[in-house]
Amino acid sequence: MDYPIWDLAMGGGMLMALVAVPHVIVAHFAVGGGLLIAVTETLAVRRNDPELRELAKRSSLVLILISTVYGAISGVGIWVVAGLISPGAISSLIHNYVWGWAIEWVFFILEIVAALVYYGTWDKISKKAHLMVGWLYFVGAYGSLVVINGIITYQLTPGKWLESHAFWDGFFNPTYWPATLLRTGIAVMMAAAFMIFPAAKSREAGSRLVRYIGGWLVAGSLISYVGYRWWETQLGETTRALFLGESPTLATLAATRSFTLWALAAALVLGIVFLMIVPRSVKAIVPGVLVMVAAFAFFGGWERLREGSRKPFLIHSYQFSNGLLVEDIERINSMGLQAYTGWMTIEGSQDPVVVGHQVFKRQCSACHTLGGYQSITKVLPTFREMVDVAANDPPGSGAVAYQVGCASCHSDTAYEEMVEFMPGPEEMQEDPEMVLDLLSGMITGTLDQLRDMGQAYVDADRTVQFDTQTTAYPMMPPFVGNDEDLEALAAFLGTLTHDGGSPISMGGGR
Ligand code: HEC
Ligand code: HEC
Repeated sequence: MDYPIWDLAMGGGMLMALVAVPHVIVAHFAVGGGLLIAVTETLAVRRNDPELRELAKRSSLVLILISTVYGAISGVGIWVVAGLISPGAISSLIHNYVWGWAIEWVFFILEIVAALVYYGTWDKISKKAHLMVGWLYFVGAYGSLVVINGIITYQLTPGKWLESHAFWDGFFNPTYWPATLLRTGIAVMMAAAFMIFPAAKSREAGSRLVRYIGGWLVAGSLISYVGYRWWETQLGETTRALFLGESPTLATLAATRSFTLWALAAALVLGIVFLMIVPRSVKAIVPGVLVMVAAFAFFGGWERLREGSRKPFLIHSYQFSNGLLVEDIERINSMGLQAYTGWMTIEGSQDPVVVGHQVFKRQCSACHTLGGYQSITKVLPTFREMVDVAANDPPGSGAVAYQVGCASCHSDTAYEEMVEFMPGPEEMQEDPEMVLDLLSGMITGTLDQLRDMGQAYVDADRTVQFDTQTTAYPMMPPFVGNDEDLEALAAFLGTLTHDGGSPISMGGGR
């Protein structure tokens, strides 16, 4: 079964990010808030400390009620969006984890009901009963985290599941426990960062409560740090190499990693200084905001690192980001993408450019837009760039243009050497067809290489994690399809090399 593509102008990945990022932040608020508020209220009741109880009460509106309600709504949004932009992936995740999701939803129901009751019954039921509702809430919220974490971590490190395809092998995969610890630390950090503000508001007990929250923030940061380091050791040599890698395309992952760790260090130091040493400082809003920003930056950085190191897979070594399965490579190469999908030719015409656009949507648009984020047009050589390289006017600009537009694919050939192969700038202007032919040869050549790359996946032992570093493009899936598909895609991509964009991309977006 193959699903048609929802062709979204802004890019499916972008829409997903818009829905998922706030959801994930709020979901961690809800979990961490559950723990902090339940513990805080328990301490308050034990010590008969009305200020502390007031802090729990004041925080519970945002951290529990709003987070949970918004989390539930945006969680549904994630399912809708994910189902539309990558139906194949959702299908895989449901087939493998239907009972996981079922357990997840049971925890959700507990979480939401407990949140409503908890918020609605402050000072209306006995303190003991209210505490119990608070702890029930925490059980529901934390339970939903530990369940979904099994599914998320499985996507990055499926481990023994690759061999057995057994539920628990995938669930308790190599990064399950470290990521559970890490997410616990993150949830505590996020909730503590938020509770700085209600704590700073209490008059008499302000400093004491801020220090109390500071303790949580420091604990959350340290737990996160241990979780992060442990997580990294469980990634496996091949994935870890990705963000310790030297090559320029991987440098962004390495940069994300150091950003993530520095943000964590900043959150810890700012937390110690502002919350523990000079708690009065948070009466002014800025210090609290700084702590919060650092905590968010760490969380965001890590999520990006996790997503980035999974490329080109949705489920590592099993399913690519565009939804195609590793085990289908050979079949699609021989039967052709058009026969495999069933919908491409019905939608399009026989015109190779139109068919090629469909091939692009099916296989490339999961990561590349036509002119926006990770633009395919930008990575392809264009007519203008060819002329710039050959003209070298003013002197020196040719080498720069070569570095920017050509070197990634021609790293073996120096600029001077390349220019010797090339026709002069006048010749190009007089005979543009010749240049377009040359460009089209480059695109076909690149697609050939991308298709050959599939062989490494076909030959690999599919019961262990695939080492993407062994391929020419570690972050990109191979191209799959027969010669007809390849020529159609080349014809479509060829229209992007004329400078001025694709004649058929108007309004379609990608
Ligand atoms: C999983 C995401 C993903 C998918 C799907 C994807 N790419 Fe890429 N592509 C990348 C990334 C990331 C890069 C940057 C180079 C790298 O690290 O591999 C890239 C780079 C490129 C480049 C530039 C290569 C260079 O050396 O400058 C071309 C050309 C390209 N992609 C074409 C395609 C085509 C054609 C398809 C569809 C058949 C496709 N990509 C599908 C992620 C993807
Ligand atoms: C996306 C990858 C890619 C980019 C970017 C690229 N090329 Fe190429 N180029 C190729 C491939 C692949 C071939 C080999 C084509 C073949 O097999 O016929 C090639 C071949 C050529 C050739 C023919 C001579 C030879 O070495 O085989 C010239 C000249 C050339 N490229 C110049 C350029 C210039 C100038 C730029 C920058 C404006 C550029 N290329 C950018 C992939 C690329």
